[in-house]
Amino acid sequence: MINPEMTIEDLRQEAQQLQKELTEHSYRYHVLDDPVIDDAAYDMMLKRLVALEEQYPELCTPDSPTRRVGAPPLAEFETAAHSVPMLSLDNGFSDEDILAFHQRNIKSLGARELNYTAEPKLDGVAVELTYEDGVLVLATTRGDGTTGEVITDNIRTINAVPLRLQKGAGPIPEFIEVRGEVIIRQADFAALNKARLRNGEAPFANPRNAAAGSLRQLDSKITAGRPLTIFVYGLGLARGLAFKSQGEMLERVKQFGFPVNPNIRSNIKIKEVLEHYRRLVEMRPALDYEIDGMVIKVDELAMQAALGEKVKSPRWAIAYKFPPTEKTTRINDIVIQVGRTGTLTPVAVLEPVNVGGVVVSRATLHNADEIKRKDIRIGDRALVTRAGDVIPKVVKVFPQERKGNEKPFVMPGTCPECGSAAHRSEEEAAVKCVNAACPAQFKERVRHFVSKKGMDIDGLGKKLVDQLAEQGLVASFADLFRLDLVKLISLERMGEKSASNLLAAIEKAKRVDMPRFVFALGIDHTGENAARLLAQRFETIEALMDADYLAIESIHGMGEKTAHAVTRFFSIPENRAVLREMAAAGVVIHNTLYGGADRNTDQGKSHVFAGKTVVLTGTLTLFKRADAKEKLLALGAKVTGSVSAKTDYLIAGEKAGSKLKKAEGLNVPVLDEEKFKTMLEGGA
Ligand code: IVH
Repeated sequence: MINPEMTIEDLRQEAQQLQKELTEHSYRYHVLDDPVIDDAAYDMMLKRLVALEEQYPELCTPDSPTRRVGAPPLAEFETAAHSVPMLSLDNGFSDEDILAFHQRNIKSLGARELNYTAEPKLDGVAVELTYEDGVLVLATTRGDGTTGEVITDNIRTINAVPLRLQKGAGPIPEFIEVRGEVIIRQADFAALNKARLRNGEAPFANPRNAAAGSLRQLDSKITAGRPLTIFVYGLGLARGLAFKSQGEMLERVKQFGFPVNPNIRSNIKIKEVLEHYRRLVEMRPALDYEIDGMVIKVDELAMQAALGEKVKSPRWAIAYKFPPTEKTTRINDIVIQVGRTGTLTPVAVLEPVNVGGVVVSRATLHNADEIKRKDIRIGDRALVTRAGDVIPKVVKVFPQERKGNEKPFVMPGTCPECGSAAHRSEEEAAVKCVNAACPAQFKERVRHFVSKKGMDIDGLGKKLVDQLAEQGLVASFADLFRLDLVKLISLERMGEKSASNLLAAIEKAKRVDMPRFVFALGIDHTGENAARLLAQRFETIEALMDADYLAIESIHGMGEKTAHAVTRFFSIPENRAVLREMAAAGVVIHNTLYGGADRNTDQGKSHVFAGKTVVLTGTLTLFKRADAKEKLLALGAKVTGSVSAKTDYLIAGEKAGSKLKKAEGLNVPVLDEEKFKTMLEGGA
């Protein structure tokens, strides 16, 4: 609705005001991760602006937020030459390579020391964004380094890209070219592929391919629907902007409104560069975007200039690559592993190979369907991956390299451990051994029972569990607590010292917190989370044993499958007997979590965050904001958007601004992320 009494000047002013506010909100949301209005309010403002601009197209400036929805499709991409070539990087693979790079720099510069910036090497698509008088006018791909394709309409759809530079500290430069990497975050990538599969479209192989494919769309409306984001790390040509180092430049571009990766370290010596590399290697599996190395840049621009460039790469920078997480090797055999719930899992026995710094000799093949789908045969050459701490898996095999003696795998009809029938259930791809007394299943259950997250009994490794079970010393969980020195010493290779250490560890484990105990039981569909929910609701194991299906199913966050499995588990007389025997053997279960909660009341009362009003602000680096919020809600906290006298805690990430000041003014306790994490995990 446009009021006919408003003059074009009024409308122009309103449009400008809306553009300004929408830009600010978008920046707060996408870059600072600190929104101050909700999505509905944002959408309303955007709708009003769209209406104004439709009526008066001259109000639609090139930096209007309405441009983010995509422009009319192109027939083909134009090309544009880069003012400064977009170079690539030399690679280093070891500390020695990096130290050699450092020595070369020192020597050519005749310097004694040098400072560096160390940045994650983002695995996405390199782009260049040109701003004239602060407005985005051109965006190009890297192309061959000299000339790239013009993808301005597509880049405008990326919310994290400012369409106009923010007036941070200092004046807006008349011309700058900003370089960075367009990426897709892991969670967004997973959701994108899921949606594609649902629509019968082929999934993308990895986030980089998805990002590249999304930027290559001639129809920018398609790009607008893709969850692209960006981190910037460099400049091309810049006029009207002065800075002395890479670190300082990154600070400036951050002030202009660009996202800069939070894991960059600037102004550091070579020793710290190597330390940062190790930190990144460790962080890598937990990051929600892919990185494939660390880029090391001489910090000071004068030094960069003095070192200069080769044809394809600068002398002042190097990429320290991460060890590859994919390798090829041979599948020597396929064996069956029996899990604690009886699932028969085919496992590839590999020619041992170093993947990402760890020697891998087995990889899961999941199930028979998967083997068939990937046409995996014994003797094949295979590509194996190991991502972070997950179990290695076989990505694919190379059929073209077959010699003819490779053997197809046949899933056995019986359990290889106990010979009982193996059944395939209707709804699952899994084949299961039906024998509840299967010795292989039992060993796995014991292993799970004593594991770190379970009863946490130190010194009870795989071999020892096998021995105890095979010698008949442990035939139920309760037997573990009835072991003594005489029994243990009867085992092969068991000395008195290790035996008494083990007994001490078992003694210690007799006092156990209820969530751990419930998890340790290894009930189907009952992981740590479900075990915690059960312990919050039921104070004692007896109460849980006697709970009916409805009482369990009505716990907020509890699944039907778990509720069924738990009731079934406790309805089996043998299981109840083992629990009684454990109690008789001295196992005492206490419950630090009990809150008596159920669906409609605030559950988990005993957690520090239960019933508390919490506000999140600033950029969180250890959590995604949505996850942090969800965790708090699950604990019964109320998460609100603004700080008031009623706020119990403010959780402040990096770059926390006005909310932090307000909280300090009101004496509201402020938690940094580390502290928040410990408290979430149950610490004080
Ligand atoms: S600097 C002259 N910094 O790596 C310096 N590049 O092999 C060249 N990349 O095409 C670029 N993260 O796509 C730089 N923090 C980072 C980077 C980065 C990823 C990519 C970029 C470039 C390629 C060079």
